[in-house]
Amino acid sequence: MGRIFSNRSVFNETYVPPTLLVRDSEANILIKRYLARLSEGYGSTDVSLIYGSIGKVGIGKTTLARYVSNVMKRKSDAGGISFKPVYINVYGTPSLHQILSRIVSELNINIPVRGNAAIEVLKAISDYLYIRDTYALVVLDEFQSLFFSSDLTKDDLYLLLRVYEEIPPKDNINRLNFLLVSQDFRVLSYMKEEIPQVESQIGLRLHLKPYSSDDLRIIVEQRAMEGLYDTSYDQGIIDMISDYFGYSETKGGDGSARKAILTLAMAAEIAEAEGAMRIEERHVREALSTSATLNIPMDVIRELNLHELMILQSVSSLIIQKGGWLTSGEVEDYYAGISNMFGQEPRKHTQFYEYLKRLSNMGLIETKISGKGVRGKTTLVRLPLDIPADKLKEVVEFILRSEDPGIGERESNWI
Ligand SMILES: Nc1ncnc2c1ncn2[C@@H]1O[C@H](COP(=O)(O)OP(=O)(O)O)[C@@H](O)[C@H]1O
Ligand SMILES: [Mg+2]
Repeated sequence: MGRIFSNRSVFNETYVPPTLLVRDSEANILIKRYLARLSEGYGSTDVSLIYGSIGKVGIGKTTLARYVSNVMKRKSDAGGISFKPVYINVYGTPSLHQILSRIVSELNINIPVRGNAAIEVLKAISDYLYIRDTYALVVLDEFQSLFFSSDLTKDDLYLLLRVYEEIPPKDNINRLNFLLVSQDFRVLSYMKEEIPQVESQIGLRLHLKPYSSDDLRIIVEQRAMEGLYDTSYDQGIIDMISDYFGYSETKGGDGSARKAILTLAMAAEIAEAEGAMRIEERHVREALSTSATLNIPMDVIRELNLHELMILQSVSSLIIQKGGWLTSGEVEDYYAGISNMFGQEPRKHTQFYEYLKRLSNMGLIETKISGKGVRGKTTLVRLPLDIPADKLKEVVEFILRSEDPGIGERESNWI
């Protein structure tokens, strides 16, 4: 044992490398921009946007935002400037109060959020930053999901993203800036329509394309160097994976660094389980074919929050038990049982429904409305036919039970 992995933790979903070898120019542009704010200070709230391409995930949006925050922290520490990065995945944080309470807790401010009007809380945050002369960069990841949140109004968004304009600090120095991360360009049309003043205020718009094979070669090799013994792989392995996932106009390809890195980690696991000295081509083939034949979109599943995972678990368990279409009611009951098993309060009915809708939008479940029955119309649920219920259950169970820090990012959604 121990011939392959030198450091497994670099394969965790939330790991951000100390240097970004690809997307470094994008990172530098952002860093320069926000650093300038620390020295100049005056001017409107800085809002920049990172967005991807429709249907493409794992292309480094979150990584870029977190990396920028990390470097900002290092540079401001070195320059004796007080700076605090705040990262929020707003998918699990869909109301202004929830967002504010995350900011308050990340900044360690001792003010009650509940029971206070949002503007009062924002004022307290702004005062705190003024008094401590501290700058904050708030990353709002999965920003597009806020447009579908019934808990957040346009006024809320204005208040948050135009905080400097709405409540100018005493010395007119703007210490609270934002970096929005969104799936694709559609967020720009939404913003233009719903919150035009914020849209026109966006300083920098960075469109990230899916990764090419050459990009992936650099990324996968960096990860291999960080996490594997150098005797355990060779360039051929890196090339195989990068060529397979690399995107180009003519070839297509996922362009996903997440899938490429996951494949390397899986091949390494298979090799290690075999007691092999090195990762060989057949290990990579096996890693690729297991994930492909299972038809289980691992990268999508890894994005789910705890409650969505438990619902998916319920659907696959029930399908194994009885097959066919399930009523949403029986899924909800089963889910309530699993929640209790995990020591969690089951989500309320409307939230449960939101989650079902999202799982269906992501293609993980299928839903249809039943014909009129005894109790009126009801939503019916099943797994897509090409997803094997038993394998899916295994995968979800594994993610639910593992101490994988990849779940750390979801932790905020757990409470
Ligand atoms: N430029 C990069 N350099 C190193 N690793 C990267 C890079 N881009 C993405 N990754 C890795 O790929 C995975 C997915 O990236 P992520 O930023 O979560 O994608 P997205 O937010 O676009 O879905 C992460 O594990 C991340 O570490
Ligand atoms: Mg992301």
